[in-house]
Amino acid sequence: MPSSDIGLDKTLAALGVTESAQVVARFAEVRAHFDGQFTTVHDESEWKLFRDRWLGRKSGVLTQITDNWLKPATAELKRAVGQQLNELRAHVETQIEARRAAIETGAEETALARDRVDLSLPGVIRPIGSRHLIRQVFQEIEDIFFSIGFSVVEGPEIETPYYNFEALNIPEFHPVRDDMDTFYLELPPSPDKKAAPTPLLLRTHTSPMQIRTMEKQKPPVRIIVPGKVYRRDNPDATHSFAFHQVEGLAVDTDITFCDFTGTIEYFVKQFFGPSVKTRFRPSYFPFTEPSVEFDVSCPFCGGTGASNGTTCSKCKGAAWIELFGAGMVDPAVYGFVNYDAKKISGFAFGMGIDRLAMLKYGIDDIQVFFQNDVRFLRQFP
Ligand code: PHE
Repeated sequence: MPSSDIGLDKTLAALGVTESAQVVARFAEVRAHFDGQFTTVHDESEWKLFRDRWLGRKSGVLTQITDNWLKPATAELKRAVGQQLNELRAHVETQIEARRAAIETGAEETALARDRVDLSLPGVIRPIGSRHLIRQVFQEIEDIFFSIGFSVVEGPEIETPYYNFEALNIPEFHPVRDDMDTFYLELPPSPDKKAAPTPLLLRTHTSPMQIRTMEKQKPPVRIIVPGKVYRRDNPDATHSFAFHQVEGLAVDTDITFCDFTGTIEYFVKQFFGPSVKTRFRPSYFPFTEPSVEFDVSCPFCGGTGASNGTTCSKCKGAAWIELFGAGMVDPAVYGFVNYDAKKISGFAFGMGIDRLAMLKYGIDDIQVFFQNDVRFLRQFP
């Protein structure tokens, strides 16, 4: 409302007001303006503007009335103007104060409503993770070996050729290196420019930990080594360039091939159940002598090669499943760790965990272990 609309910028004389009845009428008009504007004030910022427009000391409506109407009023009208102005001021001040209180409680109510806890709303669901199937199988295997006196050690996934090959009796140009060819790391040049950097590689098996453990401790040794290993394999349903193994090593003064077969059989029966049968076939590893491949009778067809009248899909009719490589530790290996090959003996084995897990849980593609698809993972809570 421009104040000129109701003549606030002019004196009463200029507005032609000469009688107190006209004064009353003028003030009634101002009050009507006030009441009209008042209905548009809803929140704190509108309220502040409105208060300043009416009560502002410099140019508020009441100040203008004082300056333009009251002060220059004629002696006859001054009393009436003064009285009207007081009434108007009282009205304006009470109304403005009342509106402030109303806005404040209104805001409080909205805040209260906003903060009110609705106990009927569903809570925040925090999904609980579970251990990966491979981890679970590691744990199962560890528990079985714990129960017969083995302890767990872990080792580096990045190895030197010495631990991965040489100390395991695999010299540089030995043909078995071809099977295990793996990923070598590209190394920064050594600070001593003349020295060639020691090559490093991703370990191809957990066997280097046989050497690292025997270097550190004297017999007796009874360890298993769970961990990841790497080979330059093309991925398919049974191959992956990264997979998992559990290595085992037992060395003491009196360990025989019988201890070896007994331990392995115990493990397999604990893992697959007491009805599986076991067999050894001669094999070759440079770090065991004699070396064997260890098979179990197929747990799916009960070692018959057939299930439900057709060829068993798990063992492909062979009735046996190849489980892992093993053997008595080759005496040459003891030479690398300063053990006296004449006084001690031992056995070692290495099993592929992914394969074991696939067999036990009926999984037909190794890739699912690495894809982390929750639909798969949820099946093994
Ligand atoms: N390291 C061998 C492999 O990965 C397995 C093995 C371990 C064989 C220990 C004999 C003894 O194929």
